[in-house]
Amino acid sequence: MLQVEAIEVRYDDVPALRDVSLEVKEGEIVGVIGSNGAGKTTLLRAISGMRPVAEGAIILDGVPLHTLKSHEIAAHGVAHVPEGRGIFAYQTVLRNLYLGAFLRTKEERDEMLDRVFELFPRLYERRNQQAGTLSGGEQHMLAIGRGLMARPRILMLDEPSLGLMPKLVDMIFELVQRINREDGLTILLVEQNVLESLEVADRAYVLETGSLVLEGGGRELLDDPQVQKAYLGM
Ligand SMILES: Nc1ncnc2c1ncn2[C@@H]1O[C@H](COP(=O)(O)OP(=O)(O)O)[C@@H](O)[C@H]1O
Ligand SMILES: [Mg+2]
Repeated sequence: MLQVEAIEVRYDDVPALRDVSLEVKEGEIVGVIGSNGAGKTTLLRAISGMRPVAEGAIILDGVPLHTLKSHEIAAHGVAHVPEGRGIFAYQTVLRNLYLGAFLRTKEERDEMLDRVFELFPRLYERRNQQAGTLSGGEQHMLAIGRGLMARPRILMLDEPSLGLMPKLVDMIFELVQRINREDGLTILLVEQNVLESLEVADRAYVLETGSLVLEGGGRELLDDPQVQKAYLGM
């Protein structure tokens, strides 16, 4: 479905990603794990057209995305839930969700809204509140909910568990599995939370200072001595 082919992405002349190739198949949860500064956010920004791709190609179902603009990439069904959430603090929860569905018909929007409120009853309770008044965990839910409202073909999540307390981290990862299983949504998840990501990912890639160093099944990487030593403190 999504192929990233040997891309290089630079800030000024300095490459942040070098020769990165990966694939996401329809219906999969694919993880990209790596420490702070590894290039995870840059990868998602390149896919969603927020950073130019200097070398290589990004293809979604045969369509080259790397030559398109962000809004065109979004229209091809790529939703990006950014790091830091990017919600509109002074808009209500409901308005934030509607904004996620701006490319959809009213029927599609209302159908998806029901689903988002089913997944996140808390957002329903707070639907008329300003988004900025939500707790940190609720803001993460809202950001994911807004991504779902676009009814994307692929949902990209940038560190959805960052800064949350353990109970909420578990809840977010359970939710990622639910939308994958119940809604059949394809998910590309980038995370520093290596343990939980590998537990939910069908397959994963390990990114270190801009290069992919390992790939495998989620469970397989959990058992990998190199991963255990570098990321799991074992
Ligand atoms: N706006 C920017 N300008 C210059 N360098 C950047 C910028 N954003 C990220 N970088 C650099 O690119 C590298 C990868 O960063 P990033 O993709 O944010 O990593 P991660 O999301 O894995 O923490 C880092 O070395 C970082 O310092
Ligand atoms: Mg990041």
